Amino acid sequence: MSTDSSFRDPTTENTAERGYLVGVVIKGSRPLLSIDDSLDELALLAKTAGVEVVGRTFQQLEKPNPATFIGSGKIAEIQEEIASLDVDVVIFDDELSPRHQRELENAFGEDIKILDRSALILDIFARHAQTREGALQVELAQYEYRLPRLTRQWTHLARQAGGGTARGGAGGVGLRGPGETQLEVDRREIGRRIARLKKELEAVRAHRSRYRQRREQVGLPVVSLVGYTNAGKSTLLNRLTGTEIYVADQLFATLDPTTRRLTLPGGKAVLCTDTVGFIQKLPTTLIAAFRATLEEVAEATILLHVADVSHPNVHQQIEAVEDTLAALDLPRVPHILALNKVDLLEEDLTHLAAEFQSPQYQAIVPISAKTGYGLDVLVQEIEEILTSAMQTIHVLIPYQRGDLVARIHEKGLILSEEHTQDGVVLKAQVPHELAAQIIAVQSVVEYTG
Ligand code: GTP
Repeated sequence: MSTDSSFRDPTTENTAERGYLVGVVIKGSRPLLSIDDSLDELALLAKTAGVEVVGRTFQQLEKPNPATFIGSGKIAEIQEEIASLDVDVVIFDDELSPRHQRELENAFGEDIKILDRSALILDIFARHAQTREGALQVELAQYEYRLPRLTRQWTHLARQAGGGTARGGAGGVGLRGPGETQLEVDRREIGRRIARLKKELEAVRAHRSRYRQRREQVGLPVVSLVGYTNAGKSTLLNRLTGTEIYVADQLFATLDPTTRRLTLPGGKAVLCTDTVGFIQKLPTTLIAAFRATLEEVAEATILLHVADVSHPNVHQQIEAVEDTLAALDLPRVPHILALNKVDLLEEDLTHLAAEFQSPQYQAIVPISAKTGYGLDVLVQEIEEILTSAMQTIHVLIPYQRGDLVARIHEKGLILSEEHTQDGVVLKAQVPHELAAQIIAVQSVVEYTG
């Protein structure tokens, strides 16, 4: 493989590339999805990245071959098949180690590109990143994914040269051959870019945290939408808030957190944020890169998990999302499960929620973001959870503490308000914390009973 091609992302260059998928089943392992379902998902990822999938296969193994990931017999079989199918790119369903990548490239020859699920997902993310932060995060994840692959390849070549077996001759001479020098330069360049990207990201994040502080000052509760890719989060956000966010029947159409304001029937406003879609086997470099964005979820007052209940693997998808959330180690907040796309189900919906019952959900609501079915119930549940996190206060606030009145207006739900000679008499529902703060103020008179 030439140095150059390791930098190019093959999937972005030619939309008509023909792809062949390869999966591996490790005996005794218990993957989330069956091999067929996992390869179906990989096919969808490939399609989203612009690759036309023309064939697939899988192999059962005790453990991956340390050199070539799959066995040599299987490689021969694939080679025969891809020659007849005129394949450009072989895509592995699992993240290949740098060594696997290199050995497979050697085995299949220069004309066949070797990609893995991680490279595909990174490519799709790169296409869909819209905000500066999203783009920086993906770029960083891409470089971090490539760097070890490049480094080890370089080391490998250097070792060959050191042993006197490389084409360029023995020892240092071979080491300083054009290929190696280029790799070394590339490696340093990537290291430099990683450092630069990290710095830029820091600046963008500092800006975002200032924005978040402002948002906190506004004091609105935050409902964060999470869910497997393509579950319908953006469609739901559009429906609920009456705004247009890019919706596409594609994986990872939404990459950057989008925030919209939603007014609940009782008059209270909340902020709804859409987050990046989850997927099983999410590349580790991506999880790391998106951690900060996903940590926005930690700000949530309520987590709204949107699942595509019409998908045959909905249970596994829910589990993958819950696992990712658990890995992020976020504080526990009330959790609603919205079973979306019920318009595609033919069955009776009466017992649907019971199938998904789990103590972690405060509510499970069948909905259709497309037709609007169940959204009234969903909104009601959100409202109820918010209300139960609040308490009613009945207080007299002297006029000189207008700041307290303002905070109650911001954070609470006003039940009654009367301007008297001594001050404002307010009956309102406010978060427990604010109630305690207000009642602790000396000049505030609390009415009981
Ligand atoms: P990511 O950006 O990948 O995270 O996707 P998302 O969860 O934001 O999904 P999105 O809203 O983009 O919807 C994905 C696809 O599902 C689109 O084609 C939507 O039109 C479709 N969709 C969403 N909700 C419904 C629904 O209630 N019923 C049906 N039939 N289709 C829906």
